[in-house]
Formats: sequence, structure tokens, C-alpha cells
Amino acid sequence: MLEIAVGAGANFPYYDMAQVRLTAADFSPMMLKRAARIADELHMQVNLIESDIETLEFPEHSFDCVVSTLSLCGYDNPEQVLRNIRSWCRPDGRICLLEHGLGGNVFLKSAQHLLNPIARKMSGCHWNRDIVQIVKNSGLRIERMERYWGGMIHLIWARV
Ligand SMILES: C[S@@+](CC[C@H](N)C(=O)[O-])C[C@H]1O[C@@H](n2cnc3c(N)ncnc32)[C@H](O)[C@@H]1O
Repeated sequence: MLEIAVGAGANFPYYDMAQVRLTAADFSPMMLKRAARIADELHMQVNLIESDIETLEFPEHSFDCVVSTLSLCGYDNPEQVLRNIRSWCRPDGRICLLEHGLGGNVFLKSAQHLLNPIARKMSGCHWNRDIVQIVKNSGLRIERMERYWGGMIHLIWARV
């Protein structure tokens, strides 16, 4: 499995390491240090890679599954990242996303558009991305989706 923009390894406790060989990447050495510590505490073997996800390269069909949580808000070109994921994943592979983006009603959307410049300045993160459209444009096939917090939080199970 591959986890992109792994951060401090918050998802590590949810992997069944008896079944999974995990590669995880992030461009922040500080985050990777924390992820390595969590992996140690959980007795997990994780291949940690320090890299910008937008320039990362893997051969085609390298992974059975790719995971991203709260990362599509940060990239310059999230659609291209998903296209790359699509090529790194085996044809029968699975892509699991937990992402925040535009909510489901017009008032929430307006507030998100309005506050986006501030969010960008404070956290480097976009609050107003249309996650469903980005996933669809990347060519991934959405198999199942759940949305929370007024539709802002997207849980997406996708296929190549
Ligand atoms: C909001 S955190 C989410 C971390 C983790 N996925 C989680 O759910 O806890 C965003 C992470 O993405 C990383 N990140 C943002 N843009 C990136 C990029 N272009 N390449 C690599 N990592 C990136 C940041 O360093 C940070 O660790």
C-alpha cells in the first residue's frame, strides 16, 4: 500500500500490518520524523519517503491500494496527483480518500469561497475545492462515497 502525504502517521494504527506492506511519503522531514516514531511504537515496518507528492514517481501498477487523507487540499494540481495515483495502482486496485472540500449547500459553499484566501494564508490549504469533480476529472471511478459535516468531509472508495 501507498499512503501519500502521510503527515505524522495518524492512520498507522488502522493498518493491519500482518497483511500490509506500507510505503508512505511526505515532503516534511518533521512530519516524517513523527511518523517514524509512531511506526516504531506500533512495531510497524514502513518505507518512509521524503518527497513532494507532485514530483514523486513510481512504476506503473506498483501498489494494490493508495490512501490519502486530508491532502488534496494542499497540492497545486490535485487532479494530476490523482492521475498519478491511478497509474501507480494495479488495475484491480483500490484508492481510499478522506478529503475536505466544498460542502453541500449554497451558503456553506459561499462561506468557503469567501474564506479561502485566509485559509490559504494561514494553513496553505484550499477550503473550496470541489473534491467530487476533481476525483471524476482524474478518471478514477467512484464506487462509494459518504459525506459528513454539511458535505465538506468526503469519504471516497474509488477504483482505477
Ligand atoms: C493536513 S496534513 C494530513 C496528514 C495526514 N494525511 C493525516 O491525515 O493526518 C497534510 C500533510 O500533507 C503534506 N503535504 C502537503 N503538500 C505536500 C506535497 N506537495 N508533497 C508532500 N507532502 C505534502 C504536509 O507535509 C502534511 O503532512
